[in-house]
Amino acid sequence: MSASASTVNVLTIDGPGGAGKGTISSLIAERLGWHLLDSGALYRLTAYAAGKHGVELNDETGLARVAENLDVAFPVADGAVQTLLEGEDVTRAIRTEQAGERASRVAAIPVVREALLKRQRDFAVGPGLVADGRDMGTVVFPGAGLKIFLTASAEERARRRHEQLRQAGVNATLPNLLQEIQARDARDTQRSVAPLKPADDAVTLDTTRLSIPEVVEQLTEWLTRKGMASGE
Ligand code: DC
Repeated sequence: MSASASTVNVLTIDGPGGAGKGTISSLIAERLGWHLLDSGALYRLTAYAAGKHGVELNDETGLARVAENLDVAFPVADGAVQTLLEGEDVTRAIRTEQAGERASRVAAIPVVREALLKRQRDFAVGPGLVADGRDMGTVVFPGAGLKIFLTASAEERARRRHEQLRQAGVNATLPNLLQEIQARDARDTQRSVAPLKPADDAVTLDTTRLSIPEVVEQLTEWLTRKGMASGE
């Protein structure tokens, strides 16, 4: 791991899709004034850039090259983080179910993961980093000060995704979403490289019956107990 990652406060939040990692990670990062790494976005961006440049999802060498050369930026506009790929605003385009499905395929390729490793570690700069993903605690930041495995039942995650999409004006049915979530879980947990699983020293938090503020409070308490947050 890089020298900076071992001296900077790092909180890793891993878990399956739809467990609330994104929401919780950005709330904690905002509360502590820490940086945020949305590692899933890098896989989504790799898959999107591959499509843009005509690289097929079975072309592993081509995909690794795309991952290595990703030209991305995450500027904040009106309080919201934008995602730019080669200057193009792809904030919404990389969030579709299809983009997630393509990302999951790309993420199963070892050379792609290797190509994105250093880029992810470079996010660990002071005062601290909240790293959201699947292998943050197991592979990318094994020395993190606090590792959380955030989970929820597949049914609850499908319900949350359904509500999110409904609010965004996107049509989707609950049974289809549940099926997609289960297929994505299977691919993420069964792949041979960096599979989705809690780090040995991770704390698992099941959010099925917890509200967002309750999860933020619990994590803040654990961070405070570890001396990583002042607990204000
Ligand atoms: O969290 P997300 O839905 O944006 O992630 C998109 C895909 O990328 C998901 O199928 C799992 C994969 N991923 C990964 O393999 N490792 C990470 N650290 C983050 C995401």
